[in-house]
Amino acid sequence: MTTGTTDYRDSGLEFPADFLFGSATASYQIEGAATEDGRGPSIWDTFSHTPGKVWNGDTGDVADDHYHRFEEDLDLMVELGLEAYRFSIAWPRIQPTGRGPANEAGLAFYGRLVDGLIARGIRPIATLYHWDLPQALEDEGGWANRATAEAFADYARIVGERLGDRITVWTTLNEPWCSAYLGYGSGAHAPGLMDGAKALAAVHHLNLAHGLAIQALREVVPGDPQFSITLNLHVIRPSGPTGAEAARRIDGLANRVFLGPLLDGEYPADVVADTAEVTDWSFVHPGDLEAIRQPLAVLGVNYYSTVTVRMWDGASPKVNADGHKDMGGTAWPGSESVEFLEQPGPYTEMGWNIDPSGLEDLLVALHQAYPALPLMVTENGAAFDDVVVEEADGPRVHDVERLDYLRRHFTAAHRAIARGVDLRGYQVWSFLDNFEWGYGYSKRFGIVRVDYDTQERIPKDSARWYAELIRTRRIPA
Ligand code: FCB
Repeated sequence: MTTGTTDYRDSGLEFPADFLFGSATASYQIEGAATEDGRGPSIWDTFSHTPGKVWNGDTGDVADDHYHRFEEDLDLMVELGLEAYRFSIAWPRIQPTGRGPANEAGLAFYGRLVDGLIARGIRPIATLYHWDLPQALEDEGGWANRATAEAFADYARIVGERLGDRITVWTTLNEPWCSAYLGYGSGAHAPGLMDGAKALAAVHHLNLAHGLAIQALREVVPGDPQFSITLNLHVIRPSGPTGAEAARRIDGLANRVFLGPLLDGEYPADVVADTAEVTDWSFVHPGDLEAIRQPLAVLGVNYYSTVTVRMWDGASPKVNADGHKDMGGTAWPGSESVEFLEQPGPYTEMGWNIDPSGLEDLLVALHQAYPALPLMVTENGAAFDDVVVEEADGPRVHDVERLDYLRRHFTAAHRAIARGVDLRGYQVWSFLDNFEWGYGYSKRFGIVRVDYDTQERIPKDSARWYAELIRTRRIPA
């Protein structure tokens, strides 16, 4: 065993006995069956069917056809030895217009999924919202509209009543940063708006939705449910003399605007000041901050890469290598003058830099700031171009780069544990290749390959490696 190396390729490190190894997906990215059994349209159906929004005109209409193949997919999880499965529930399957009575067929689908997991000994980690907002709610203003947060609590209650104590961890939202800033600010995600004031209103209404949903769930879920939210906190490296100011601004908009209300009961004053020309924050009503701050059993952390920032000097061409598609709007309302510098490589196929030290830094920093809060990595993984080779025992994908990415990030997680972080588990993104939002099917994150013509599933070498890690609880050599 080696320790302390900077390349994060230690082997033999052992994970705690109760550490939850699993993998993650999201409804719109894998399910398909977009119009079946009463599912209503979501903002991602609308967006993906709008020419020019998604690579190649790809949509989630069929995706991995998981809606029809979930039993087979669950069997594959058993083969790999997954202990947990993080999936999301499609709101428009439960309430096709986002309001009103439950659609029984939609509820029944998730009931079968959860029963199937439990029957196989796999812990369900359910996310209530992974970006597929019912289009009818968007038509009323979406997340920029306060009523959406109230509707979300009703939806949470319906799901809580049905799935009850069968869910190991309830996650309210996945990456509200993306929903708010990419959906309403930069235009890269559905609904594709480019309006900084709406993006900030969406931030608040997502925070509020989280709090109201937990209150609703607590009323209906028996036992001692574990409540959570998953954030894509940014790991920010400052560059040069203006780096600290740029990092403060991005930390505010990306991290503290969520952590503040969720965990400390307040919005950071500097963020309110930085955005004063964009909005007056009058969407924050009396009582909201109390509603948002709910005790969390665990905080979900999604991590892929880091950013390096400084303030733009106003003269040279502005650098904007923030790793997201540029549709013309801004993901950083009030802080458009921050430059995102090119990161040192290597990079994944997304163009995201590979830096496992960012994961260790993030987990340790969170633990230091909130020592009593358990953490879970709810997403980590990498897109690479895969090649299928026919071998004597069948088709194989030798995805050495993804395997190496995972090895190094599991090492980083282990180092964080060794430094005292209460890390409860790790959900690899993703179980299956799937619809990667604005990039359509052009980016493959799966540890299991999906052939989109035949829907054949092929566990990649990274999946076999992961199976060994789970079986031995040690990072394989
Ligand atoms: C995260 C999303 C997830 C997936 C990965 C690559 O931002 O939560 O759905 O797209 O990125």
